[in-house]
Amino acid sequence: MSHILHRHLQVTPPVALTGQGVYLTDAAGRQYLDACGGAAVSCLGHSHPQVLAAMHAQIDRLAYAHSSFFTSEPAEALADHLARTAPAGMDYAYFVSGGSEAVEAALKMARQYFVEIGEPQRSVFVARRQSYHGNTLGALAVGSNPRRRQLYAPLLIDVQHVAPCYPYRDQRGDETPEAYGKRLAEELDQTIAACGEKRVIAFVAETVGGATVGAVTPVPGYFTAVREVCDRHGVLLILDEVMCGMGRTGTLHACEQEGVVPDLLTIAKGLGGGYQPIGAVLAQRAIVSAMSAGSGFFQHGHTYVGHAVACAAALAVQQVIERDGLLAKVRARGQSLALRLSARFADHPHVGDIRGRGLLLALELVRERQTRTPFDPAGQLYARVKREGMARGLMTYPMGGTIDGYAGDHILLAPPFIVDEEHLEMIVDRLHAAIDAAIVSLA
Ligand SMILES: Cc1ncc(COP(=O)(O)O)c(C=O)c1O
Repeated sequence: MSHILHRHLQVTPPVALTGQGVYLTDAAGRQYLDACGGAAVSCLGHSHPQVLAAMHAQIDRLAYAHSSFFTSEPAEALADHLARTAPAGMDYAYFVSGGSEAVEAALKMARQYFVEIGEPQRSVFVARRQSYHGNTLGALAVGSNPRRRQLYAPLLIDVQHVAPCYPYRDQRGDETPEAYGKRLAEELDQTIAACGEKRVIAFVAETVGGATVGAVTPVPGYFTAVREVCDRHGVLLILDEVMCGMGRTGTLHACEQEGVVPDLLTIAKGLGGGYQPIGAVLAQRAIVSAMSAGSGFFQHGHTYVGHAVACAAALAVQQVIERDGLLAKVRARGQSLALRLSARFADHPHVGDIRGRGLLLALELVRERQTRTPFDPAGQLYARVKREGMARGLMTYPMGGTIDGYAGDHILLAPPFIVDEEHLEMIVDRLHAAIDAAIVSLA
């Protein structure tokens, strides 16, 4: 019997024993091709020698020093690296231990910024339906995955939610992508206005929608229109790139491809690539200047802020991405995987949409393609696909509730940046078999 309180209380998962490149091996000797990087985390695959060496070297020198006493060399070097490669003006990095903590810190930093500049009446966040920003209470509140949220709803801060940018479901037949994006920006404008003069702190959005909705990419012009709306209302723009950032979509930051610079940018999964728990908030100079000229203190903090080994691991991950030109590889392999998925599933009766960017791709499954009717949620197709994939030695990241938190199924793929063409073909083969077996099992 396991004494771990596992996610599913009646199921003990296999024991992961070793990891090498794009494979994980369990204690029974079964190999799994990691087509999702866990949850879009393992960007360099497993056991990358340069990252392991950096971690070993750091452990031998210093594992940990509390950030209220010291800074550390790896934390400083990582912050330098991130500031050098960040969107314009994002000169500061605040380190935490994961994605939810990054979102939590960004929400607080945004609130403190307005208190520092004399607008303490701002207390409302606006975010999007079908978004996922993490499981801590603040992050859960701005997120809008009804299934994850429902139980805790009475504990959550009040957040106004607007529509996601989800063309497959929500773009009207007579609407261009540009007009659709404009309509969404108008909804944001009206929502902020309805909250009252100078009441909204920030609009929070994933640049490319990830876990809840499955790799939905923004339509052209959407984020520039959103940025304009935020600026007009004096509202901050917080982009959550915990999943889609750090190279996953083919540029270091996904917002680079949208032509917008946020005020705060959250990053995590691909920052440390799973080698250590780490996340960060990248902050604009103006926000940090307001705090340093005001109270001089960010009223927040955790015990493991700027953990030396976590920073050393993340720095090594980022150095490998830069040294090995992996962003170009993400673009090339991403294109190749997208083509392979189209070739294989374009005529599949139950694949309604194939979408995504770089190596963050998803298939949305439907019972009926013509009408885009989802499968009955009671059948939990997404869970079946995951099981059938694992039985075939394939790790994918399927999720249910794609459409509204309850109905809809998608499968997220986020293989390591080091994946090769042979592995891409294996992913598509095994995925095809897993989807077909999962659908047959519904009958
Ligand atoms: C966009 C986004 N934000 C935040 C989080 C939360 O990150 P973590 O699970 O590391 O707390 C996730 C996790 O999937 C995410 O995808």
